[in-house]
Amino acid sequence: MIPVITIDGPSGAGKGTIAQNVARQLGWHILDSGSLYRLTALACIQQQVDFSSENVIEAIARELPVRFESESYGLAIFLDNQDVSDAIRDEEIGMVASKVAAMGGVREALLERQRAFVAEPGLIADGRDMGTTVFPQARLKIFMTASCEERAQRRYKQLKEKGISVSLAALVADLKARDEQDSNRPISPLKPAADAVMIDTSDMSIDQVTQHVLDLAKQRFS
Ligand code: DC
Repeated sequence: MIPVITIDGPSGAGKGTIAQNVARQLGWHILDSGSLYRLTALACIQQQVDFSSENVIEAIARELPVRFESESYGLAIFLDNQDVSDAIRDEEIGMVASKVAAMGGVREALLERQRAFVAEPGLIADGRDMGTTVFPQARLKIFMTASCEERAQRRYKQLKEKGISVSLAALVADLKARDEQDSNRPISPLKPAADAVMIDTSDMSIDQVTQHVLDLAKQRFS
C-alpha cells in the first residue's frame, strides 16, 4: 500500500509548512486539502453564487477546473487557467471556505479528488479530516495544535512580511471563529483521529517540528 501521512489541526498551526518540509525531505507528494475548499469558495464568489444554494455550490466543487503545478518557489494553483495561488490565501476566502466546507455535498464532491492524490512513493496530506475521513487507513496520523495567540502571532508576522497590515486582535477573533465553525460542524469536524499523534507546536521551531515528524515517519515506515 502506498504510504500516507496525515496532518490535521486548526488554522495556523503550521501544518502547511511542515507538510511541505517533510514532503521535500522524503520526496513525497503533497495534498493541501484546504486549497480545494478555498478554490471552491473563490469560484463561488467569482460566480456570485447564492450561498444558500447548496446544490449549486456542490456542483461547483465537483467540477472545479483546477490545476496544481510544481514550481521552484512552491506550488502554483490555477483555477480556469488563472493563477490564484495568492488570491486563495486571503483571510476572507478562508472564512468562506470554512462555510462551504460545512456542506455535506461539497465534502462528498471533493472526497475522490483528494484520494486521487495518493501516488508512489508516498503522500503527505494536510487539512482537518485527513486522518478521520479521507485517509482513515493512513499509517501515520498527526494532529498539530498551537495556542490561538501563537497562531495569530505567526499569521500576523507572515502578513507583515508581505506588507499587509492587520490588527492582531482581529486575527485572533478570525481564528477563533474559524476554529469554532470547523470544530462544531456535524460532518467531518476538526478533531483528532483516535490513533493520531498529538504535537503542540506553540514552543517549537519549524525545524524541530519537521524533525519530529521525520523521526515518527522513520519509525512507522521502516
Ligand atoms: O487549511 P486552510 O486554512 O487552507 O483551510 C481553509 C478552510 O477549509 C478551513 O477553515 C476549513 C476547511 N477545510 C476543511 O473543512 N477540511 C479540510 N480537510 C481542509 C480545510
